[in-house]
Amino acid sequence: MTDTQAPIDTDALMAFVFRAVEEAGATLNAALVVMGDKLGYYRDLAAHGPSTPAELAARTGTGEPYAREWLNAQAAGSYVTYDPASGRYTLPPEQAVALTVEDSPAFLPGLFQIALGTVHDMGHILDAARDGTGFGWHEHGADVHVGCERFFRPSYHANLVGTWLPALDGTVDRLTQGAVVADVGCGHGSSTVLMAEAFPESTFVGYDYHEGSVRTARERAEAAGVGDRVRFEVASAQDFPGAGFDLVTMFDSLHDMGDPVGAARHVRDALADDGTWMIVEPMAGDRVEDNLNPVGRAYYGFSTLLCTPTSLAQDVGLALGTQAGPARIHDVVTAGGLTRFREVARTPFNLVFEARR
Ligand SMILES: C[S@@+](CC[C@H](N)C(=O)[O-])C[C@H]1O[C@@H](n2cnc3c(N)ncnc32)[C@H](O)[C@@H]1O
Repeated sequence: MTDTQAPIDTDALMAFVFRAVEEAGATLNAALVVMGDKLGYYRDLAAHGPSTPAELAARTGTGEPYAREWLNAQAAGSYVTYDPASGRYTLPPEQAVALTVEDSPAFLPGLFQIALGTVHDMGHILDAARDGTGFGWHEHGADVHVGCERFFRPSYHANLVGTWLPALDGTVDRLTQGAVVADVGCGHGSSTVLMAEAFPESTFVGYDYHEGSVRTARERAEAAGVGDRVRFEVASAQDFPGAGFDLVTMFDSLHDMGDPVGAARHVRDALADDGTWMIVEPMAGDRVEDNLNPVGRAYYGFSTLLCTPTSLAQDVGLALGTQAGPARIHDVVTAGGLTRFREVARTPFNLVFEARR
């Protein structure tokens, strides 16, 4: 050690090492949660109560050693409890809600599925970071696309029709009477379908540049029985067809776009004179230090590995980042020529803005 180096506090060093061990366990747990979701372990434990590994394995048709080690990992992480006297593992009722009820705003497997799908493509992100290029949304695997849908849909289900749309000036009245709506960057169309179910007099078109997502969105609309009033088309936010829209929506997609200002300009031109643009974005403050918290940590992670590469893969490549914050969203919107902008709602995970011409 040289004179200029600070002395090492061994306790602080070991505290950091043990925190990191916990995080390595949490990293592996992302795969274990997806495993529990896909193999039906959580749903089975929720349905049957305290179980042994042999019972869980038999009921789910899986190998007993996998069920045993998975249960032990889940017990060590406090996702299930373990009773040494009976050798049984229990999924507590609150955790059963978070891990098995798809419509609950507390539903978690979608978050882990998109996180794991994102990490899976790490090699591509390393290459892109080295040469400063991007990696498109469409280049990711199904776990990113399906995980995104399953992560965001519960929040839309809980907030969109009951809270977010009513917070917009006059929009619910228009939707009730019969409005024309474009949902841009619609992904698998969960927001589009939820709005169509709530407002049967209105018609909806969902646009996304990713053809695979558009195909899935069409299937979702058919399955929900709203296929007659909802259509999905492949189109980018900068040049989607149509005009005179009463409402344009963007759910967690603006920051992913390469040219969000170009998108804002196009939305302004596509809106009816008194139309509304609703922008749902990830929860974020304007300054880095506002986002140094657990939600910000997860979102900066997604920003580095998923959203920023998505933007960089497109023309302009502005790379707003997942944690852009209200001030930068305001700048993007007004640079696109819209003059009115206000925040209308927020949840722990989302900000909702209204913009008008
Ligand atoms: C994080 S996902 C959100 C999907 C959906 N809105 C939701 O909330 O579940 C972002 C979506 O934006 C789409 N997207 C990204 N850039 C786009 C662009 N320039 N034009 C249209 N869609 C775009 C992606 O294909 C992806 O489906």
